[in-house]
Amino acid sequence: MGMNIESIRREFLKDVGEATSLPVLYEVKAKYLGRKGILTNLFKELKNLSVEERRERGRVLNDLKEWMEERIRKREGEILEAEALKKELEGKVDLTLPGRRVRIGNIHPLNRVLREIIEIFSSMGFSLEEGPEIELDYYNFEALNIPKDHPARDMHDTFYITDNALLRTHTSPVQIRAMRKRKPPLRVISAGKVYRRDSDPTHSPMFHQVEGLLVDEDVKLADLKGVLSEFANRIFGGKRRVRFRPSYFPFTEPSLEVDVECVRCGGKGCQVCKGTGWLEILGAGMVHPEVFKAVGYDSGKYVGFAFGLGVERIAMLKYGIDDLRLFFDNDLRFLRQF
Ligand code: PHE
Repeated sequence: MGMNIESIRREFLKDVGEATSLPVLYEVKAKYLGRKGILTNLFKELKNLSVEERRERGRVLNDLKEWMEERIRKREGEILEAEALKKELEGKVDLTLPGRRVRIGNIHPLNRVLREIIEIFSSMGFSLEEGPEIELDYYNFEALNIPKDHPARDMHDTFYITDNALLRTHTSPVQIRAMRKRKPPLRVISAGKVYRRDSDPTHSPMFHQVEGLLVDEDVKLADLKGVLSEFANRIFGGKRRVRFRPSYFPFTEPSLEVDVECVRCGGKGCQVCKGTGWLEILGAGMVHPEVFKAVGYDSGKYVGFAFGLGVERIAMLKYGIDDLRLFFDNDLRFLRQF
């Protein structure tokens, strides 16, 4: 009884697995179950055993035989099926061709930059706040110190839905919503789509902004500068100087435009910065007392700064993209580069 059942079983499985045609499979069947087959021989040896041993051994061999027959039937089915499929596809499909490669998608460059921006400000303690894209006139303009007849409304080229509802023209209304919801100190950013009736190589009717707002008891312009310098360094890499220029927004006083040292030439002057060495990247300022009044904050006690930046602009500068429309064409040749 030298033949080990386990090793027979293993060898049988290997033989069956390697049989890819019926003739070969039937040879395997004969090798184990045929008249001179391995298993058949084992059955013949039973007669040399005692009654007790014979019963035990007989059961083991019978189980093995049944199991082998079952495996062979199964394999037979598989082979027949594969042959039928092969016949069906004959001349139609080349089964030897390599499979089609599955491409793993990647994150859209705008989302990538957006996530990076959010990550930078979260690391400075700003939490993410959300607001609706369809906004009330009150939040988009009125509460931001832009009354109905204010000339600043012209700059916004608003898509109106009704007299009172519109597609938000900037993320600043989220400032109002955040301040109405919470008491100072406050440190929030908001990111999302904004809309303006504008369309050319550098303007699209929908684009993305990130808004920042910090309110506390002792906040200075220098804090704003510190936060924005840190932001510029991290989003563009390296040490980047930022500079403030006076500007005007109805909801901040003073208002500033913020420039960063040109990401291409480092300040020497090139085509990207039109020879100035500086790139305008965002608008900012100290929160206007009228805005605090609209949300019920005590402007005698609290001070704050706010800023708003265009995500497309940052992404274009960061990656050297010269046409805004590339972001929205969804040309895979463009998108796969990121
Ligand atoms: N909301 C302004 C815009 O879209 C940007 C801004 C935000 C300016 C916050 C100052 C403070 O142009």
